[in-house]
Amino acid sequence: MAAVSISPALHLLPLILLFLLATNEGATLNITNQCSYTVWPAIVPMGGGMQLDPGKWWILDMPAGTAAGCVWARTGCIFDAKGNGSCQTGDCGGMLACARNGQPPNTVAEFALGRFNNTDVFNISLVLGFNVPMEFLPMPAQGGPDCNKGIHCNYPMDYSSSTLTCPTGTNYQVVFCPSTSGKVEALVLVYLIIFEFIFLMALFCIMPWLIYKCFVSIRRRRQWRREMAEEELGELQGTPMRFTFQQLNVATEQFIHKLGEGGFGPVFKGQFGEDIIAVKCLDQTGQGNTEFLAEIQTIGSIHHINLVRLIGFCAEKSYKLLVYEYMPKGSLDRWIYSRGDNTTPRLDWRMRHKIIIQIAKALSYLHEECMDIIAHLDVKPQNILLDDDFNAKLSDFGLCKLINRDKSQVITRMRGTRGYLAPEWLTMQISEKADVYSFGIVIMEIVSGRKNLDTSLFEESMHLITLLQEKVKCDCLVDLIDKHNATMQVHKEEVIQMMKLAMWCLQIDFKKRPKMSQVVEVLEGTMNADTNIDHNFVATSPASYGIAGNVMFSSPPLASGLSGPR
Ligand SMILES: *[C@@H]1O[C@H](CO)[C@@H](O)[C@H](O)[C@H]1NC(C)=O
Ligand SMILES: *[C@@H]1O[C@H](CO)[C@@H](O)[C@H](O)[C@H]1NC(C)=O
Ligand SMILES: *[C@@H]1O[C@H](CO)[C@@H](O)[C@H](O)[C@H]1NC(C)=O
Ligand SMILES: *[C@@H]1O[C@H](CO)[C@@H](O)[C@H](O)[C@H]1NC(C)=O
Repeated sequence: MAAVSISPALHLLPLILLFLLATNEGATLNITNQCSYTVWPAIVPMGGGMQLDPGKWWILDMPAGTAAGCVWARTGCIFDAKGNGSCQTGDCGGMLACARNGQPPNTVAEFALGRFNNTDVFNISLVLGFNVPMEFLPMPAQGGPDCNKGIHCNYPMDYSSSTLTCPTGTNYQVVFCPSTSGKVEALVLVYLIIFEFIFLMALFCIMPWLIYKCFVSIRRRRQWRREMAEEELGELQGTPMRFTFQQLNVATEQFIHKLGEGGFGPVFKGQFGEDIIAVKCLDQTGQGNTEFLAEIQTIGSIHHINLVRLIGFCAEKSYKLLVYEYMPKGSLDRWIYSRGDNTTPRLDWRMRHKIIIQIAKALSYLHEECMDIIAHLDVKPQNILLDDDFNAKLSDFGLCKLINRDKSQVITRMRGTRGYLAPEWLTMQISEKADVYSFGIVIMEIVSGRKNLDTSLFEESMHLITLLQEKVKCDCLVDLIDKHNATMQVHKEEVIQMMKLAMWCLQIDFKKRPKMSQVVEVLEGTMNADTNIDHNFVATSPASYGIAGNVMFSSPPLASGLSGPR
């Protein structure tokens, strides 16, 4: 092995020679002294003697195929005039290369370049405890699994040896005293760079986006203010809430829980916030949005405890949806008709009486207490909904107003249900009194527990109203009382009074029918039902009157007359 260098100038000679011999597959070492003291690196087999002051570095090219190389740092060296000398550490009595594990201890990097499988192998180990901590870093960092982060040996913590394997041709940074503080500084620097990068990103990418967002939000806010203004106006007038289609789509889970199919379209259950809602999808209204919204405002401004509350609506593109409060007990028809099986608990007389009064109040309100007369035109048990306590609420009120603007043909399809139609439907003089007739039918159905038109029965009893006409003439109305519920029989006197009220409502001549406010008064006992009434409920002249229960439309009624006088 080479002897201790005599003078720096001299031992540069073999290095220069070696440099000339070096091939491409060799390695360049950048040996840097980060220690606070001077070191004299020793490189076997290259030689040494280079004095490396703090902060200085030394570039050293190593030829390919170097075997059993070593790098380490020596300290406290003194050289005589001839260049002979010795060091306090990392030196063996003036010998550049000490025997392995010799004295004094030092930190040594052993290496072999391109000897095995075209790879460079480095070992750094702390030989017997001391000395100058060192670090080997591939430069630039290689991506390989064993050549990515470099290896360190830091006295006094690290007594183990670690190995670095890199592809041949890799260059290395050899650092003496790789300071942790330096790392911290580097880390801080890296963070600063990252921060700066983010900041610049913010400036150049996010800023335009922010400006755009800001612009959009200003526009939105303006729009929102406009909507708020409209809403405030609306709130004063009781306008229901406006939903987006997307909101209702989410609320109803893509319209999967179908509650039923109304005359105007299917109804779905949904949840919006805390509230359970029923969403009705109007088939088609043929209306422009403006008209639709105007009608919604009208209907939304109508509030009565016995009307199903319109919470909101959606008018988007062709979608027209109405959002109602959800009525847990469903519609009245589920509860009054006897079905052979006794699965549904049947309503007792008190309940039925309460429901009749509540519906009467709802109709009275629609007919007489609103700005416009609102004729429902489809009063039937299916449109009477029940809440948890069996309070009745009329639904679908005012929908004809929404619909009938368009074409009377829609009304023909929607309005009226066989069995509930007043005879005057054929005369085209429809008024709110048609509701009174339908209400009379509903009373009869509630007290008798059957449908007015029940095609499952024999011909002679198919029509409840025909039966009513017969029974009133033989004075045996009691036969019609629902036999499936004991309370009905117990209160048969009251039930018969109720039938008499129904008969008043069922007058063929609509002028003879009571107003709904009168019906309410009778029900509340402040007035007696008119007894001077016609007991023919079945129209005999088909030319002028339809036969109740058998009415078929011959021609659509005029739209203008449908919602009553306005
Ligand atoms: C050697 O490494 C030091 C940092 O340790 C660096 O400043 C210097 O530029 C490097 N020299 C070369 C030639 O890469
Ligand atoms: C100095 O070095 C030379 C040659 O390398 C050697 O012969 C000589 O003995 C050395 N002198 C001392 C005092 O070590
Ligand atoms: C690295 O060290 C291991 C064991 O510590 C040894 O077997 C191997 O030969 C060394 N490699 C070199 C290139 O010195
Ligand atoms: C060279 O690589 C082969 C396959 O990757 C492996 O089996 C062999 O042990 C390696 N030789 C040395 C000396 O590392």
